[in-house]
Amino acid sequence: MFRSVILAAAGSSRAERLVQRAPISRGVVNRFIAGSGLDDALRVTGELIGDGLAVTLDYLGEDTTTPADAEAARDEYLRLLDGLATAELTPAAEVSVKLSALGQAFDVERAEEYARAICVKATEAGTTVTLDMEDHTTTDSTLEVLARLREDFPTVGVALQAYLRRTEADCRELAGGGSRIRLCKGAYAEPESVAYQTRLDVDKSYVRCMNILMAGDGYPMIASHDPRVVAIAEDRAKWFDRSCDEFEFQMLYGVRPEEQRRLAKEGYTVRVYVPYGTQWYGYMMRRLAERPANLAFFARALRSR
Ligand code: FDA
Repeated sequence: MFRSVILAAAGSSRAERLVQRAPISRGVVNRFIAGSGLDDALRVTGELIGDGLAVTLDYLGEDTTTPADAEAARDEYLRLLDGLATAELTPAAEVSVKLSALGQAFDVERAEEYARAICVKATEAGTTVTLDMEDHTTTDSTLEVLARLREDFPTVGVALQAYLRRTEADCRELAGGGSRIRLCKGAYAEPESVAYQTRLDVDKSYVRCMNILMAGDGYPMIASHDPRVVAIAEDRAKWFDRSCDEFEFQMLYGVRPEEQRRLAKEGYTVRVYVPYGTQWYGYMMRRLAERPANLAFFARALRSR
């Protein structure tokens, strides 16, 4: 119930205007988001890499509605990749891209062209690109774009969401050699016709999908803060004889930072998903929906100026 109310607000432009206009303390920005600008992103990335972590950077923004905004998102990614290369933060840092930020909803060919430009720049910078996965109406389109990008850039990865009923089949399809799959539980409000609704069903699906990826020839990226998921992944890696460099853990910036460092010290690759930029509303609301405890923190921050 709580989750669906918050996720409904996440999709409401009226709620977005209200919250974005409210005075918001740096506390929220500093905890879950690297900051508003490229310099913040590069500084935080450098610190995380210094702590033995890997990074994937997300320039905040989604559901772009104008060609100018889509172009601006592409240009920011190009600047980001230049910045990462200049600061010698690649290949430990890569980028995560939402096709909706590049205009997927109104011109998918253009979005693909922009994603391709980002892949070219990432290749020059010596790093990789992972496509985020958004709501289920975009899954087919995102996987089609992925397939075409991978013809020229075989290292492009994608996120798959265990809450979708289709994802086990997608994992089978994409578990081949060279494939980089980020397995997450899924962060959007989805109908029962396409998605498991209970935590237990989602968790069971996650484990089935993980088994497929760990048994396959690709590179599984286990994106979860769930201690049981982490323990099962460690177990499956042993079972399928995968060494520490044949899969990785991924967690969000600001979530379980001690666990991120603990796993890295154990020798695992741990990649932190680092968002930056000013369009934080949708991202923050999904974090609130995942964890009611974050709501009190957020409410305090809204009141604190
Ligand atoms: P879940 O929310 O199910 O919680 C399980 C347990 O984990 C909790 O009971 C608690 O023990 C622990 N836990 C969770 N959050 C915690 C916290 N803040 N502090 C302490 N303990 C906590 N989604 C999507 O739809 N598309 C995408 O492209 C991506 N991309 C992505 C990248 C990365 C790197 C990550 C980590 C996640 C995503 N997601 C995503 C989000 C994902 O789908 C999911 O919504 C969140 O990760 C929450 O699910 P979890 O598996 O982390 O645990």
